[in-house]
Amino acid sequence: MSPAEILRPRQAIRDMLPYRPPTAGRDGSLRLDFNENTVGCSPCVLDALRAALDGPTLTMYPEYGKAIRELARFFGVLPDEILLTNGTDEAIQVLVHGYVEARDEVILPRPSYAMYRFYAESVGAAVREVDHRPPDLAFPLEEMLRVTGNSTRAVMIANPNNPTGAGVDLDGIERLLQAASQAAVLIDEAYFEFSGVTALPLLSRYPNLFVSRTFSKAYGLAALRIGCLFSQAGNIACLRKAQSPYSVNALAAVAARAAAGDPGYVRRYVEDVIAARKLLCRGLRNLGIRYYPSRANFVLIDVGPRAAELCCRLKGHGVLVRDRTHELPGCLRITVGTAEQVERLLGLFEELL
Ligand SMILES: Cc1ncc(COP(=O)(O)O)c(C=O)c1O
Repeated sequence: MSPAEILRPRQAIRDMLPYRPPTAGRDGSLRLDFNENTVGCSPCVLDALRAALDGPTLTMYPEYGKAIRELARFFGVLPDEILLTNGTDEAIQVLVHGYVEARDEVILPRPSYAMYRFYAESVGAAVREVDHRPPDLAFPLEEMLRVTGNSTRAVMIANPNNPTGAGVDLDGIERLLQAASQAAVLIDEAYFEFSGVTALPLLSRYPNLFVSRTFSKAYGLAALRIGCLFSQAGNIACLRKAQSPYSVNALAAVAARAAAGDPGYVRRYVEDVIAARKLLCRGLRNLGIRYYPSRANFVLIDVGPRAAELCCRLKGHGVLVRDRTHELPGCLRITVGTAEQVERLLGLFEELL
């Protein structure tokens, strides 16, 4: 093999496009591009991490007993109904590896979180996408029900959805669970803290239901990579077999426990974000900028043909927003943080548009 040649990967990997999130050089900017917490995690988390930073903790492979018990109590499930994961991304990966074979049908709304398609394609699944309903980009429940059937192996939904901010209510989720009774149905609740809608109470009634949560968004711990996947105990036991035994590092588990121990911090942050979201929407209306109503900590706006240019010019002023024009022409996605941050952004819109 000459140096220029590469070892031939599986066909499914050859068929995939690389995922290239714009994650370089973000430090020092106002980061309204990844739906992260814009002020930082609870001080209790930092204290717990400092206290855990000692030789013995770092020498040992992680032990998850305490984290599983405490987080199960926090989320209101049994310890055998929860799987700790390296972010939601690993939850999606484990679910796909657990249930989806090459050429199996996987149904996804479009546009949605990119990792559903990414992991489904990595196993060579037949991905079928259902467009959000124009003109308001509402969740396409009826359209998804129409294409879902006994041959469907997985359905993955973000509720609320990224990047549209639209959601589906529990009645809709139940209809999907019934229509896709042979499929693993993932309800990704990465933005639950902002929407308040959760499918967790349905867990005991639907053996095909999987719910994920993350500490990356409202809790401000994206760097540590920790989330949870919930399902009935038998499913979780199967998925544990499909997961690497130490994929969640010990410090991430410490941080998640501390974050769950300070719910008031996140409650206050969420209240601030929801108030700032109203402020942002009012400002957008005053400026005549079209936006899509959101149940999450971000708002999708439509600024027309100058969207990509505006995104670059905001970057020049130290403010990062996410360009979604490749999937929704004219659209940018703005993370909502504090009122002060929203005012800075609105000031720039006024100046640049
Ligand atoms: C819907 C949705 N799910 C999951 C994630 C990623 O979560 P995590 O950091 O837990 O992997 C994102 C991040 O943007 C998201 O928008």
